[in-house]
Amino acid sequence: MSLEPATVGAIVPAAGRGERFRGATPKALVPIRGRPLVQHALEAIHRVDEVVAIVVVGPAHVLDAMRELVAAARLDKVTAVIAGGADRQASVARGLEALPAAADLVLIHDGARPCVTPGLVRAVVAAAATAGAATAAVPIEDTVKRGEDGWVTSTLDRTQLYRVQTPQAFHRAVLERAHREALRSGFHGTDDAALVEQLGHPVRLVAGDAGNLKVTVPEDLAVAEALLGRGGGPADAVRVEQHAEAPAVDAAVVRDGDEIGRALLEQRADQVVRDSVQAESADRERRSARDVGDRFRARSDDFVHTSATSPTHAVRKPVLSLSKEQGGPKLPDGRGDIHPLCR
Ligand code: C5P
Repeated sequence: MSLEPATVGAIVPAAGRGERFRGATPKALVPIRGRPLVQHALEAIHRVDEVVAIVVVGPAHVLDAMRELVAAARLDKVTAVIAGGADRQASVARGLEALPAAADLVLIHDGARPCVTPGLVRAVVAAAATAGAATAAVPIEDTVKRGEDGWVTSTLDRTQLYRVQTPQAFHRAVLERAHREALRSGFHGTDDAALVEQLGHPVRLVAGDAGNLKVTVPEDLAVAEALLGRGGGPADAVRVEQHAEAPAVDAAVVRDGDEIGRALLEQRADQVVRDSVQAESADRERRSARDVGDRFRARSDDFVHTSATSPTHAVRKPVLSLSKEQGGPKLPDGRGDIHPLCR
């Protein structure tokens, strides 16, 4: 089934207690570049024409503050600001109930990912309109192993592994069924795609953005600030425009800014970013994050042919193809490629 054009209702879960964030202020309201964290994601989603309604799910004790920020930022597509549940899944379920009936496609994006772009939202929405379910994801480039009791037990095939992000999008009927079934069976997933997978429904992979960082610990703020700092300039404008112009829209652009984020995130495991940021004063933190980004800057050529097997398909099929050899069009400034997807 395809929804053309889709009427999109967005849910922004931002009700996490932020335990790993260790702050008195709820994570969603921590200022970043002068605006509360959640506001960045809301503004990006708000700019997508297909989105007609946004439900914000927040911590019960700060709903008034959230409503105030929505009013002050004139986010007039926000139709409700409601209290979250015990876990993310419960928060999304509440958001789903609060979504206006007119929305036939549901976009879900974590409030903790402030660097999302309207272009990535559009790409995921377009893929979900056709496939019924879609998620942003980036290929894993580290070698991944299983371990037990301090010993390696096996090495996984990384060509079939992805780091999954939000935005995710679903036909509303599919998502509602997935949540009903999860509630009935007691299944708990850390994202909504997992619930849909439980139904046996295929989920399309859309090339995510390595700069689409999830702010989890305080040190991530400096990285997110650096990444958000890339916005507003001509490069960001090119990127958004390219997404808007892509005919079938299943495309994402990897450019300099993304590469900085990608490199930063991939080095996160060895604490390069965190160690350098922790050692600096607030002013020097921002410079430090950029420096680290430069040091580990990766080229878009690093993307390789990858394929994944949909759990619901007996036949292995390529669903995400990121190589330049696929012949994707170039950005006008020649700094990156538009990656063809989901062929
Ligand atoms: O905890 P996790 O990293 O999975 O959180 C992802 C998103 O889900 C965050 O934006 C967080 O605020 C939100 N969340 C929620 N309700 C909860 C727990 C998390 O809305 N009870």
